[in-house]
Amino acid sequence: MTLLAESPPEVGQYPSLPSAHTITLTVNGTPVQLQLAPWTSLLDALREYLHLTGTKKGCDHGQCGACTVLVNGKRINSCLTLAIMQDGNQITTIEGLAQKDVLGQEGLHPLQKAFIEHDAFQCGYCTPGQICSAVGMLNEGHAKTADDIRELMSGNICRCGAYTNIVDAIQSVISSQPDTL
Ligand code: FES
Ligand code: FES
Repeated sequence: MTLLAESPPEVGQYPSLPSAHTITLTVNGTPVQLQLAPWTSLLDALREYLHLTGTKKGCDHGQCGACTVLVNGKRINSCLTLAIMQDGNQITTIEGLAQKDVLGQEGLHPLQKAFIEHDAFQCGYCTPGQICSAVGMLNEGHAKTADDIRELMSGNICRCGAYTNIVDAIQSVISSQPDTL
């Protein structure tokens, strides 16, 4: 079978590209308004427009988990969703996980502390995605054992192979501080 290409449009016939859309996201507790081309991924909106570079771009194809953030408390690969699809939603990135105590002092999230205490990273590139994914997993409430953690975190790839310590870090939080999440 022969496939024939359509003849190209003549000069002046090309459709114009859609204009920028204005959206509002609440990012780490702060409402922000952005004017974005409709094809801008949430990952690019965070990194390129809001300069929140903690969220990493690994594959940009939904295969590595480096870009994981939380949308309304649920983990999501931010490279696989358009920013305009998240209009009105609450986004939490690694920068927003630290919590204020009763005195207003900011402290690391228990999972951030556990990753440090358990030496759960080497180069650290995957770490923000691992931690955001772990927060989302604990919100889901299905992780009880080390095997559960391995299975439910399998979308987050670590090229340094820090998996053993990542599982230890997450397990330590599940067993010691379930109420702080
Ligand atoms: S950068 Fe999004 S999954 Fe790899
Ligand atoms: S710590 Fe290097 S990729 Fe995971």
